Amino acid sequence: MRTHYCGQVTAEHIDQEVTVCGWVHRRRDHGGVIFIDLRDREGLLQVVYDPDSPDIFAIAESVRNEFVLQVTGKVRHRPEGTVNPNLTTGEIEVLGTDLKILNKSQTPPYVIDDDSVSEENRLKYRYYDLRRPEMLERLKLRSEVTRVLRNYLEDKGFMDIETPMLTKATPEGARDYLVPSRTHDGSFFALPQSPQLFKQLLMVAGLDRYYQIVRCFRDEDLRADRQPEFTQLDIETSFIDEAEIMDLMERMMRKLFKDTIGVELADPFPQISYADAMHKYGSDKPDLRIPLELIDIADVLQEVEFKVFSGPAKDPNGRVAALLLPGGNALTRKEIDGYTEFVGIYGAKGLAYVKVNEVAKGREGLQSPILKFLPDEAIETIISRTGAKDGDLIFFGADKSKVVNEALGALRVKLGQDKGLIKGEWAPCWVIDFPMFEWDEGDKRWVSLHHPFTSPNEEHIGMLKDDPGACLSRAYDMVLNGTEVGGGSMRIYRSEVQKTVFEQLGIDEQEANEKFGFLLDALSYGCPPHGGIAFGLDRLVMLMAGAHSIRDVMAFPKTQTASCMLTQAPSEVSERQLRELHIKLRKPPKMVDS
Ligand code: AMO
Ligand code: AMP
Repeated sequence: MRTHYCGQVTAEHIDQEVTVCGWVHRRRDHGGVIFIDLRDREGLLQVVYDPDSPDIFAIAESVRNEFVLQVTGKVRHRPEGTVNPNLTTGEIEVLGTDLKILNKSQTPPYVIDDDSVSEENRLKYRYYDLRRPEMLERLKLRSEVTRVLRNYLEDKGFMDIETPMLTKATPEGARDYLVPSRTHDGSFFALPQSPQLFKQLLMVAGLDRYYQIVRCFRDEDLRADRQPEFTQLDIETSFIDEAEIMDLMERMMRKLFKDTIGVELADPFPQISYADAMHKYGSDKPDLRIPLELIDIADVLQEVEFKVFSGPAKDPNGRVAALLLPGGNALTRKEIDGYTEFVGIYGAKGLAYVKVNEVAKGREGLQSPILKFLPDEAIETIISRTGAKDGDLIFFGADKSKVVNEALGALRVKLGQDKGLIKGEWAPCWVIDFPMFEWDEGDKRWVSLHHPFTSPNEEHIGMLKDDPGACLSRAYDMVLNGTEVGGGSMRIYRSEVQKTVFEQLGIDEQEANEKFGFLLDALSYGCPPHGGIAFGLDRLVMLMAGAHSIRDVMAFPKTQTASCMLTQAPSEVSERQLRELHIKLRKPPKMVDS
């Protein structure tokens, strides 16, 4: 039906006859001449119809936006002064000699490149929205990314192996999506939160190197970088240690960035321990492009009369930290109030600050509502430790460590963005030496920081029972520009160690056997040492495409409330289906909000 894509006709084709197909992006009537910008996935092409052939001209007059056309004509130079340097096809146009309307379109629901259209509306008409060049480019990039990743892994001997979607719960920390079984009354499958256990079983099977580009399902609170179904590049290997896996993965990332978007990433990626990352950046996914750091000052505030500071300074689970904003003296009252409100989202009860006018004048050179509570010695230490200079501002966080880390960690990123402090474009790093467990205050129990199959450091295995909080794991996260793009670990491959870890997590023998008996069995039938990693493909492509949400790099994403605007899923099902699935609704079904 066509000889070229619209977007691929160039000056090289001048004087040739071409046939193209596409959608009417715009039609303009210019006093007796009609211009049609025809669009396909490769770009826009200008087609001109003059009244010399009245029949065809009449058809051209009748077309409207988004009609689907087949156009034949001769390629020619655009007249002097009408060349459009922004289009690859901007030098030329096609003088139309034939025109077929392949299909009509209703008036589109909105103007395609109108930036003010709500995302809900765009998602409802996603097939139309995806015609936008920006969206097409993102999907093209995504396809290129998976191609490069696959090629790299296949080259390195990884095998693409599928794992079940209808399976048993895998604990990755989210709620499961459940699928009721028709044939087993009252029983449910869980959709996989990840293929974690299956990929480990593939290692027990001796497959040695596995990968899969695979959909995962997690019923959790959604954010810009979280969807209920998302895609992982999932990887597992045997007889390899963390240094080798990390090296292999770094090389893959460097190749990916170079081959797709022409970016050279650092070689090697810096590695930061979890403890350091929390200390300096208040986060285990630090954005290293931002040159601001949290600085501990609890030691000089234990005895001050200001309880807001002295309380957390004395609390072993507390933290008092300063965050210096160079040039921050210029912040207005309103801005400071805004940041105070911002840290409130993370549970901070306030945001104390000191404006530094003139360091040389000591106390007199500072300005702050809390100055009166602070002794000279504390002030001097704070100034010298933060390296504050005239014109700077120091923020303070004082609370439980978790609150201070989250609040000042987020403030650090926000200040970096608001004040244009972000340096360089790409800052990958590895975060390593994670603790095995984290104490859950609410449930009063230890929980895995990664997942329960992550191996403790060899030297810490002996401490699992007596000092779980001090055990470090063999986990590693890959972080890019403040986003966790991947996470993995060396796994437990001995059943005794796995049993001990389950015990620490409060999973008793019976529960362990019920939930993971198959894994414990497998570990006892010749399981090789193994480890792996999974990357969030959506997040990776989002960063590479410069998009702000993973929804923008997925063809058919869900909304923030985990529904599909296009199909209206989830939706009600018939009584009969429910009966077959042995499900009785307590309440009469009601419409899902749209
Ligand atoms: P983890 O839970 O860290 O590890 O997931 C791996 C990566 O997947 C991405 N990710 C998500 N992306 C979009 N929406 C979500 N809801 C979402 N949740 C996670 C992140 C994350 O780094 N089985 C382990 C991996 C392993 O140990 O090999 C796992 O799933 O980018
Ligand atoms: P207050 O004594 O509550 O008026 O607080 C005095 C200053 O300390 C104000 O600027 C508050 O924003 C700030 N502040 C209060 N609680 C905290 C906290 N937990 N961490 C940091 N600053 C705080």
